[in-house]
Amino acid sequence: MATRAVYPGSFDPLTNGHLDLIERSLRIFDELIVAVVTNPAKSALFTDTERMEMIREATRSFRHIEIMVFEGLLVDFVRKVGAGAIVRGLRAVSDFEYEFQMALMNRKLREEVETVFLMPHEAYSYISSRLIKEVAGYGGSVTGLVPPGVERRLTEKFGRR
Ligand code: PNS
Repeated sequence: MATRAVYPGSFDPLTNGHLDLIERSLRIFDELIVAVVTNPAKSALFTDTERMEMIREATRSFRHIEIMVFEGLLVDFVRKVGAGAIVRGLRAVSDFEYEFQMALMNRKLREEVETVFLMPHEAYSYISSRLIKEVAGYGGSVTGLVPPGVERRLTEKFGRR
């Protein structure tokens, strides 16, 4: 039976750390659905469509991957797409508490869905979408930390200084 996993997140925007995790996941699972959360209550820098496009662009050469938007409970989406696992990245111990709570809550909601944690390459362990936005917003360089398409869009949003 093919193993299908969901990699959920805000991806606002996609970083090279996310991309590294996508590649690692594709080595483990037969199919990966990258699920971009849409949350009207949370203001994102990029729209759902922009966030999806950036992922699509950066993963164009990858096979067995699908990019989708989801709303509502993650476990409901996981069931809807027939996946058995949720992939999340752990960069450092500081990620652990929040991730542990989410994994256990998701297990409480739907016991059959397993959360699998993968570690990105250590070169990406300090990268987060929040910091990328902050640095790019003040005109700093994010070259090598995000895919080229994401860098271009950040420059378009913030302008170059
Ligand atoms: O990239 P992020 O912001 O860390 O991703 C968080 C995400 C999207 C995985 C999480 O907020 C989520 O699952 N949201 C959907 C709503 C939900 O299921 N909440 C309960 C999770 S325990």
